[in-house]
Amino acid sequence: MTAELSPIDKAKYVAARRAVEFVEDGMRVGLGTGSTAAWMVRCLGELVREDGMKITGVATSARTAQLAAEVGVPIKTLDEVRWLDLTIDGADEYDANLNLIKGGGGALLQEKIVATASDQMIVIADPTKQVDALGAFPLPVEVIPFGWQTTKALIEEMLSNVDVLGRAASLRLNGGTPFKTDEGNFILDLHLRRIANPTQLSLVLNQIPGVVENGLFLDICDVIVIGKPDGTVEVRDINNGTVEHERIDIADTENLFVDKAE
Ligand code: 5RP
Repeated sequence: MTAELSPIDKAKYVAARRAVEFVEDGMRVGLGTGSTAAWMVRCLGELVREDGMKITGVATSARTAQLAAEVGVPIKTLDEVRWLDLTIDGADEYDANLNLIKGGGGALLQEKIVATASDQMIVIADPTKQVDALGAFPLPVEVIPFGWQTTKALIEEMLSNVDVLGRAASLRLNGGTPFKTDEGNFILDLHLRRIANPTQLSLVLNQIPGVVENGLFLDICDVIVIGKPDGTVEVRDINNGTVEHERIDIADTENLFVDKAE
């Protein structure tokens, strides 16, 4: 069965498999969104179904909540749980300090709320997501639909005063109509190419009326698990300054593929 995995899926799978080793019985776990996070939810489902592990998941999107229900991970809302032991999520970009761009899947708002409400955030990614400077991936910004074109103009005006290489903003579309987040908001993707000062940019973006949140996750990620197509992982802990390399056993993955939806 594992022979059917593409190299990139294998990289995502081993990252997810290693990351769930951080989850302990009784933990409240934030469940990220995206194709890498979906592997993690499937791995957690297997631990719940086969090992009887007791965890409570808090999903960061409706589609993650649906997948969690399908694979048997019990879900509660963040308001029911209030605080989490751990969040495991994917990323669109990460730099050497484990600062991130997220929101490629449009779930950045719930993802940031959940990650911020967690003792620890673990990111799972493959090596293609690593960058020297954030910004090659278009930065998602969630905006209120009311007056979004004015908000976009204000963002573009603000961008002329910050150190970035590109300044175009585009409304994210889904089949010709605006993509809507789980909160019913729109996403503006900022094509910045290189962000010299992510902290400054994040602060000024969030001061613009109409902006709900941006996809810069700064000083939030504690550990990154980088999965590689050869079945190895690199585990970087930014707090301890440790970097470990391990090989993940992927022999017994049969049950995960039954649920594979993304
Ligand atoms: C969703 C996200 C995802 O974590 C990010 O887009 C990575 O997705 P994938 O694992 O599919 O590459 O931020 O809002």
